Amino acid sequence: MKIQFAKHEMPTAGALAVAVADERKLAASATLADRLSKGAVGRALAVSRFKGRVDELLQILAPGELKLDRVLLYGVGAPATLDPLVAEAIGGRLVAHANGVGETSLSIAIDPISGSKVGAAEFAARVAQGARLRSYRFDKYRTKEKPEQKPSVKKLTIMVEDPAAAKRAYEPLERLADGIVFTRDLVAEPANVIYPESLAAAAKQLARLGVEVEVLGEAQMKKLGMGALLGVGQGSERDSRLVVMQWNGLPASRKKPPVAFIGKGVTFDTGGISIKPAAGMEEMKWDMGGAGAVIGAMKALAGRKAKANVVGVVGLVENMPSGTAQRPGDVVRSMSGQTIEVINTDAEGRLVLADALWYTQQRFKPQLMIDLATLTGAIMVALGQVQAGLFSNNDQLAERLLGVGRAEGELLWRMPLGDAYDKLINSDIADVKNVGGRYGGSITAAQFLQRFVNNTPWAHLDIAGMAWSDKDAPTVPKGATGYGIRILNRLVAQHYEER
Ligand code: BES
Ligand code: MN
Ligand code: ZN
Repeated sequence: MKIQFAKHEMPTAGALAVAVADERKLAASATLADRLSKGAVGRALAVSRFKGRVDELLQILAPGELKLDRVLLYGVGAPATLDPLVAEAIGGRLVAHANGVGETSLSIAIDPISGSKVGAAEFAARVAQGARLRSYRFDKYRTKEKPEQKPSVKKLTIMVEDPAAAKRAYEPLERLADGIVFTRDLVAEPANVIYPESLAAAAKQLARLGVEVEVLGEAQMKKLGMGALLGVGQGSERDSRLVVMQWNGLPASRKKPPVAFIGKGVTFDTGGISIKPAAGMEEMKWDMGGAGAVIGAMKALAGRKAKANVVGVVGLVENMPSGTAQRPGDVVRSMSGQTIEVINTDAEGRLVLADALWYTQQRFKPQLMIDLATLTGAIMVALGQVQAGLFSNNDQLAERLLGVGRAEGELLWRMPLGDAYDKLINSDIADVKNVGGRYGGSITAAQFLQRFVNNTPWAHLDIAGMAWSDKDAPTVPKGATGYGIRILNRLVAQHYEER
């Protein structure tokens, strides 16, 4: 689908979408469409239940004298509630509708909505962004789809008073979406295609954007003492990797400790010797969703040349049962020097992150660290598939994350940390054990991670419920979501970027 911005002009083919605010208040383009269609719009409105609420859409087929397939009325709701995310949702819904009805060309008219929180240019850019994000599809393995089963929209035109301004507003959003779709592809790929080495190779592609990418192999990690990460990978035929990505967006003279993002990249999680039940195990191909988000965020930041120094570190392993796999009860030595009793080989993500966090902290002395991980089923029990769990040792960082999450529509809910939870992971044989017991599973997992964080401000996002979705949302089609990239991108833009 090609997206373009243009001045207002009545299209002579395809679909035209025009806005209607709450209580059926027609925007300028809707009024014009009504006049040129000799009242077809008004009559359709009168016989429908369409009120102009924000999730409503009304299709008018072959409207009067207009040479259009259809006019789509899209609700914008109460003007005061029209914000950037609502605008994205509108774009997403319109393009999904047009794809569903076989339309090939969609023109969306953007009028200034007085009393709204977005100007016309920003509104237009966000509509384009929503349309792009919703149009994402992972269909490379479908060889037998008929044309009518495929999305039909080839051309999307956003009509707005100042197309140049809209295009300028769209530019950074487009780079963000590049990161999101890159990640969605990586997460959607099956584990016979994406494994530590191939995921590292995908991350290497960011070098084209000016990201410095290093890939550490098992020998190097062994030398560094990463026994926790390596223990997880030792049952797999696939070698483990640690990928370090550096985006230095600040001039070399401005030496500033970087912001660091760390991702769990378990390319497939069978559970290891503590093997998972068969039902649903295929989902564990997306157990690298945290690493995917970090890679996508680096792509977005580099793509838009963010004025900040950011490092991304992802620990890539495959968790398999085999004759060489680690056993429950094994004790491993982490890079930090702390020994870990592996009670359950299925609590592997925290083992990978223990070494990735320590390495990042030692090498980069970052001003803050944020890890993203599909870490626990327990966070899904607590929060469902609506928001991710946020754990942090730093209130300012936590507040910032909550704020950017809200602004990006990627919700976070802060969860507790504390000594009473920390005690639960004391081991009888080693410094720490990798599971806490029956209750508070997402919290004891976070406590485990915190044992590998010194005084660095740190946050952990447990995204187990968010990396994959089984239903369409306005800007996120079902499947891999790319959750977390928007949070990281805005966090940098709003709080750590120099202007
Ligand atoms: N990758 C899983 C967590 C997960 C579960 C993510 C379901 C997405 C959907 C993680 O490695 C895991 O297996 N966690 C265990 C921990 C337990 C053994 C303490 C869990 O949550 O059951
Ligand atoms: Mn597991
Ligand atoms: Zn896992």
